[in-house]
Amino acid sequence: MNKVTIRDIDVSGKKVLLRCDFNVPLDENLNITDKTRIVAALPTINYLLEHNAKLIICSHLGRPKGEVKKEFSLKPVALELSKELGKEVKLADDVTGPSAKELTSNMKEGDIVLLENVRFDPREEKNDDSLSKEFASLADIYVNDAFGTCHRAHSSTAGVAKFLPSACGFLIEKELKVIGDALNNPKRPFVAILGGKKVSDKIGVIDNLLEKVDTLLIGGGMAYTFFKAQGYGVGNSVCELDKLDLALSLLKKAKDKGVKMLLPVDNKVGKEFKEDTESKIVKSTEIPDEWEGFDIGPETIKIYKEELEKAKTVLWNGPVGLFEFDQFAVGTNEIAKCLANLKDCTTIIGGGDSAAAVTKAGLADKMTHISTGGGASLEFIEGKALPGIECIQDK
Ligand code: 3PG
Repeated sequence: MNKVTIRDIDVSGKKVLLRCDFNVPLDENLNITDKTRIVAALPTINYLLEHNAKLIICSHLGRPKGEVKKEFSLKPVALELSKELGKEVKLADDVTGPSAKELTSNMKEGDIVLLENVRFDPREEKNDDSLSKEFASLADIYVNDAFGTCHRAHSSTAGVAKFLPSACGFLIEKELKVIGDALNNPKRPFVAILGGKKVSDKIGVIDNLLEKVDTLLIGGGMAYTFFKAQGYGVGNSVCELDKLDLALSLLKKAKDKGVKMLLPVDNKVGKEFKEDTESKIVKSTEIPDEWEGFDIGPETIKIYKEELEKAKTVLWNGPVGLFEFDQFAVGTNEIAKCLANLKDCTTIIGGGDSAAAVTKAGLADKMTHISTGGGASLEFIEGKALPGIECIQDK
């Protein structure tokens, strides 16, 4: 990576503003249900503490839309972080206001202050310079380790780097290395599995992956748009009628590039969008009217597993079925199990729902890398520049 990292700078005795992505899921009692993103930030936090920095951490949580809303407070994160570090983490009552200023004014080396949710300030998502300057005024150095938010050009992710010396943390470094190596220098065969609801969300990803992979396996809701484009009936399945030409052009691109692009040959369809709905297995060419495709079928699972078992690099983004409902989670779980058992293969799970599915299946520790970025990893795979990384000074 040609960007400055925390290894390249002297942080001793300095106030470091560290942007993390602590956008963690909370239950109705505001308990954290998955602390992966907090744990993923610990190497950088520990390094900065061990090197005698005064640590000012900031993050967003959810989408409070510029308003202070109690349910989006970083309080649960402060408690969890404090537990993980075995140290006090002081939570400011505001983002850059009187409380933040007071808590960050007389810090000692090793102290940790967490600012309140940066999205409580309406200027954050506008990347307003006035807020970026306020962030900068609190610290001497800016470190970005919020990989999951790198695709957002906001005050705390990109703007602040205009006003302070900047560096990347270890999480960003690791994400870029693992995903970047897979994309640019993969051990082959390189197989990608893409799921998720809409083709339109993944156009750029499919397009770029067709330049890189040997095999592309399609699952999830987006498969039905491909079926429709080929003239099959899809019943009530999700289908983007305005993307049929696009689906055909992606199939053609695969053919022209010599990429083996596979679509499901069978599907588990249901009567209604509910957990215990009546369901059956049908061929992709025979989806009945009134039925809706919710998962890949057993024959498809078999074919996809055969492809995956040959792979040396696998990149997976998006569940291949409605994995929130047990009866339609079979395809996603079988793919997860297959990846978990692959030997001598780099397995990369692009964040978001596929990461949640692997975690739900209890197989997270069996994968080479689970990205902490959903949208960010997609944009990176798409080949787009990420503002939160572009803003960091070059080496
Ligand atoms: C994520 O969860 O993908 C990141 O934290 C970014 O959140 P956002 O989509 O609300 O910007």
